[in-house]
Amino acid sequence: MPDSSDTPKPTLNQLVIIGLGLIGASIASAASKRRLARKVIGISRRSSTLELALEAGIIDYSASSLDVIGGNLGSDDLVVICVPTLTVNSVLQECHLHLNNEVTITDVASVKGSVIEAVTQIYGFVPEQFVPGHPIAGSERNGVTAADHDLFTGHRVVLTPDLKTGEEHLSLVAKLWSDVGALVSTMAVEDHDEILAATSHLPHFLAYSLVDTLASMGDKNEIFKFAAGGFRDFTRIAASDPVMWRDIALANRSSILDVLDKVMINFVTLRGAIASANGEYLIDVFTRARDARNYFGKLEEGKELREYSVTKTTNFRVSPGGHARGHLRVPGDKSISHRSIMLGSIATGMTEINGFLEGEDSLATLQAFRDMGVLIEGPDQGRVVVHGVGMQGLKDPQKALYMGNSGTSMRLLSGLLAGQGFDTELIGDDSLSSRPMTRVANPLSSMGALIFTAEDGTPPLKIKGNNSLKAIDYDMPLASAQVKSCLLLAGLYAQGETSVTEPAPTRDHTERMLKGFGYGIKVADNKVTLDSGGELKGTRIDVPADISSAAFFMVAAAITPGSDIMLEHVGVNPTRIGVINILRQMGVMITLMNKREVGGEPVADIRVQYAELKGIDIPESQVALAIDEFPAIFIAAACADGVTCLTGAEELRVKESDRIQAMSDGLSILGIEAEPTLDGIKIIGGKIGSGRVLSHHDHRIAMAFSVAGLRAQGDIIVEDCGNVATSFPSFVDIASSVGLNINIEVSND
Ligand code: S3P
Repeated sequence: MPDSSDTPKPTLNQLVIIGLGLIGASIASAASKRRLARKVIGISRRSSTLELALEAGIIDYSASSLDVIGGNLGSDDLVVICVPTLTVNSVLQECHLHLNNEVTITDVASVKGSVIEAVTQIYGFVPEQFVPGHPIAGSERNGVTAADHDLFTGHRVVLTPDLKTGEEHLSLVAKLWSDVGALVSTMAVEDHDEILAATSHLPHFLAYSLVDTLASMGDKNEIFKFAAGGFRDFTRIAASDPVMWRDIALANRSSILDVLDKVMINFVTLRGAIASANGEYLIDVFTRARDARNYFGKLEEGKELREYSVTKTTNFRVSPGGHARGHLRVPGDKSISHRSIMLGSIATGMTEINGFLEGEDSLATLQAFRDMGVLIEGPDQGRVVVHGVGMQGLKDPQKALYMGNSGTSMRLLSGLLAGQGFDTELIGDDSLSSRPMTRVANPLSSMGALIFTAEDGTPPLKIKGNNSLKAIDYDMPLASAQVKSCLLLAGLYAQGETSVTEPAPTRDHTERMLKGFGYGIKVADNKVTLDSGGELKGTRIDVPADISSAAFFMVAAAITPGSDIMLEHVGVNPTRIGVINILRQMGVMITLMNKREVGGEPVADIRVQYAELKGIDIPESQVALAIDEFPAIFIAAACADGVTCLTGAEELRVKESDRIQAMSDGLSILGIEAEPTLDGIKIIGGKIGSGRVLSHHDHRIAMAFSVAGLRAQGDIIVEDCGNVATSFPSFVDIASSVGLNINIEVSND
C-alpha cells in the first residue's frame, strides 16, 4: 500500500490478522479503508478465503501460517488472533514459537478466562506483549464475505489487561480499536466473563434452544410458516456460527451455568404460575421485566443524550409573525398526577389513571414508588395502573430516592415517608438541592418525625423510620399547598387528628383526591382535618389538562392580534384559576364552556380571544391561586398598556429559579422596563424587542419567553430549554401546531 503525502502516516507498520471470519475480515477491512497500517496481512489455512480477501482488497498480503512471516515482525507490528475460542490455544503456541517479545499480540475471543489460562500454560506467565480483548460487536452472518468496515463503529471493545501488560502494547491495541470507531473500556477478566455470560452467551443459548425445540415439533414447516415478529426478533441470533458458540459454551462453563441456573428456576416458577392460572404472578414478572427493559432502553438513549448534553444545549428560537389559533389539549395536570401515584400506591386495590402527565417531575414520583416496591403499569399514552400496596405496604427502597427537579415530589413525599417503618433519603437536581425544605421539616419534626435537612435547610432530606408520629394542629405561616399536603399525608400515619390551617386558599387537590379514595376528611373554611387509621380504596382518576401549561397559550392568544384559541378539558378548580381572574381583569376575553366535574375536579373548555390589554395592580388574593402562572402573566403585562404591579409574591423567589429576577432580567434584555421588588415586580408595558434571554434552567421561564416571541420585533432566543420536559415535554410541537414560529436549536456549549 503506497504512502501518500497528504494522508497521515499509519501508526502500525504491519497488521497481521489470523483468521478471516466475520470479525477478522472486518478488522482487516476497517484498517485498510482507514489506512491504519502500512501493510495488512491475512493468515488463513484456507487458500480460498485468502483469495477472496485479496480480491475484495481488505488485505494487502496473505500467508498460510505464522511461521512464514513471524520472523519479520517487531515493534509497531500487531498480531490479532481472530479464530474460534478453542482454537486460540493452538494459535498462541505458534505465536510463542515464531514471534519475538516486541510484537504486540491481542485476541478477540468472547471468553477471556480460558485465553488467559492458555497463554499462561504456553508461556509460563502472561507476557507483557499480550493484550486480551473482546469486541462486543458481530452479526449472525459469518465468513470473509460478511466483512463490514463499519462493524465496530460505536460498539464497545473490552480489554482485560494483566497487571504486567506493557503500556506500549496496551495503547497500540486500544488505538487500533478507537481508530476503527469502537469505544474502548478495560475490565477484570472474571467480571468480563460473568457479565458476558449473562448478556451475550445466555441469550444465544436460549435462542438456539427455542428454535431447536420448535424445529423438532410436528410439522416444522407449518410452525415456521406462522412464526411471526416475536419469533424472528427472539431467534435472529440462532443463525450464528455453531462452532464459535460451542467453543464459548465450553470455555465459559462456570459463569454460564450460574446464570442458566437462575433462569431455569425462574422458568419453572413461571411454568407453575401458568399451570395454576396465577395471573397476578404473571403480571408482576412481566411488568417488572418490561420496566427493566424500558429502563435499559432509556439508559441507552440517556447515554447518548447525556453524552450529547455534556457538549450541547437546547435553545428555543421564536420568530415573530406567529399566532395562536385552533383547538388544543395540553398535557395532564402535574399536581394531580403526582398525587394520583402517591395515593394510588398506598391504597388497597387497583387505581387506574388516565391523562397522567408524562413529564419528568411526575415520572420522578412514579419511579420513587416503584423503588418502594409498588407495581405500576405504564405510563402508556397517559394511562397508568397502580397496584396499591395498602397503607403499610411500602418497602425500603435501599437507595436514595431521586426527585429530579420536582419540589412537589420531595415535599409531599417527606410527609408520607415520615411515618414509614424504614429510613429514606430524598435527593434532587441542582435546582431542587437549593430549595427550602425547613417549611416541611419543622412541622414534621413537631409531629415527632426524625427528618434532617442539610445545614442550610435544603436537600438532601434524611428521614428515619418512625411508627409513632403524633398529630398536630398546624397554623401554616405561608400559603403552601405542598406544606399542607405533606402534613395531611403524614397525618394518615399519626396518632390523633391532624389539622392544617392555611392563611389563604391554596390548591386543594389532595383533599379532593383523599375523598375520591374514600378517606374521611373534614374541610371547614381554611382548616382541613383528618384522622389516621382509615383506608384508601383504589379508584379511577381522570387527570384534566394542566391549567399551568394552558396558561402559556391563554397569554399567547391574549397578546396576538387575530388569535382565538380553544383549550380543551382544562382543570378549573377554583384554587387554580388565578390566571383566568387576572387576565380577565387585564381585559382578556376568556369564556369557560362545557363546564363539568370529572372525578371530583371541575373541568371546562376555555376560549381565549385577543384583546387590547391594560396594566393592573394584581390583587394579593390571587397570588396563591396563580403562583405557577406568573412568568406567563408577566409577558401579558409586558404587552399591556400601562403598569402592572405584583406584590405579596416573595414565594416566586424560591421556585425552580428566582422567577422575579429571571423574568425581570429577561424582560429588560427585550427592552421592557421591569423593576423587581422583594416580593414582586412592576412591569411597564411596551414594545418587545429581540435578543437572547436565559431560562435559568426553569421550564416556566423558558415557555414564557417563547410566548413573548409572538409580539417581538425580531427573533427571541431562549437559552437552555431542556427543563421544559419536566412539565410539558410536547410544548414545541403543540406551540407550533397552533401557529407559533418556534424552533429547537442545539448549540455547542
Ligand atoms: C404545588 C403547589 C405549589 C406550586 C407547585 C405545585 C402542589 O407550590 O407552586 O408547582 O402540587 O402542591 P406551593 O404550595 O409551595 O406554593
